[in-house]
Amino acid sequence: MTTVLPETAPGPEAYEAAFDAAVAADERIEPRDWMPDAYRATLVRQIAQHAHSEIIGMQPEANWITRAPSLRRKAILMAKVQDEAGHGLYLYSAAETLGVGRDELLDKLHNGRQKYSSIFNYPTLTWADVGAIGWLVDGAAITNQVPLCRCSYGPYARAMVRVCKEESFHQRQGYELLLELSRGTEEQHAMAQDAVDRWWWPSLMMFGPPDDESAHSAQSMAWKIKRHSNDELRQRFVDICVPQAEALGLTLPDPDLTWNEETGRHDFGAIDWSEFKAVLKGNGPCNEARITQRRRAHEEGAWVRDAAAAYAAKHAPGDDRTNRKEAASR
Ligand SMILES: [Fe+2]
Ligand SMILES: [Fe+2]
Repeated sequence: MTTVLPETAPGPEAYEAAFDAAVAADERIEPRDWMPDAYRATLVRQIAQHAHSEIIGMQPEANWITRAPSLRRKAILMAKVQDEAGHGLYLYSAAETLGVGRDELLDKLHNGRQKYSSIFNYPTLTWADVGAIGWLVDGAAITNQVPLCRCSYGPYARAMVRVCKEESFHQRQGYELLLELSRGTEEQHAMAQDAVDRWWWPSLMMFGPPDDESAHSAQSMAWKIKRHSNDELRQRFVDICVPQAEALGLTLPDPDLTWNEETGRHDFGAIDWSEFKAVLKGNGPCNEARITQRRRAHEEGAWVRDAAAAYAAKHAPGDDRTNRKEAASR
C-alpha cells in the first residue's frame, strides 16, 4: 500500500481512510503500513493458529514414517511432513512481521492459550489414514487457503502462494495412496474405506462453525482477510470430493449426500457440532498427547536453537572473528 499523506500533519482519521481505501482497492497492506489494532490482532490470532496447526499436524503422520510400507512411500511421507514444518516457519515469520515473537506464540500454544486445528486431535490408526489425511485434510486446507493467497495482508498472502503449491502435492499423494489401496486386496480396500469413514466428518468441521455462529467471519470478510464464508468453502469442498470419491471407488459416509438439480450442488447431512466443540475444548482423542509431545519436542530441541543462535551471532556482520577470517582468506 502506498499511503499518500496530506501536506499538513495527518490525524488518525487520515491513516484510517488510507487503510480503508487500500483494502477497498484490493491493494496489499504491508508490515510498515498503518493498520487498525483489531486488524493486527485478528491477523496475529489467525496466522498463529495456522502456524500451530502446521507443526502439530506433523505428529499424526510422522507416527507412520517408520512403518511406511515401502521406501518410496517413506520418502514421500517424510517430504510431506518436512513441508509442514516449513509451512510453520513461513507462518511464524509472517506473524513476526506484525510485531509478535515466535517464542511468545509457542508459549501460548504450549500453555493452551492459542489453538490449533481440531482435526489433528484425531488418531492415525492405520496406514490408510495417511492417505485419507492427504486427500481430505490437505484437500480441505487447500480449499481454505487458495483464497488466502488474495488476503489483504501482504506477508500472509505471499506465504500462502507457496504453501498452496506444496499442499497440492500433499493432496495428490494422499489420493494416489488411497487409490492404490482401494484397488488392492479386499482388506486394503476395507482399510481405505474405514479411514475415509473416520476422516470425512472431521474434515468438514475444518471449515469452522456455520456462518450464523462464526464469531469473526463478517469482520474478516470486510477486511478482506477472508474472501468466502465457512459454509461456502465447505460446500465447495463437498462438491470437489464427491466425484473424487467415485473415482476412488470409495463411499463418503453420509446417507443424505445427494445431487441437487436446482442448486447445482450437493446437499449433505447435518454435522455433529457437539463433537467439534468437545474436541475444541480439549476432549478429543489425542489433545493431551499432541500438546505433551509438542512441549517435549520444544524442550529437547533447545540445544538446536541455542546452537543456531550462537552460530548466527558468530557470523553476524561486524563480528571480529568473522572479519579476521575473511581478511585472512582474501
Ligand atoms: Fe501445510
Ligand atoms: Fe499439507
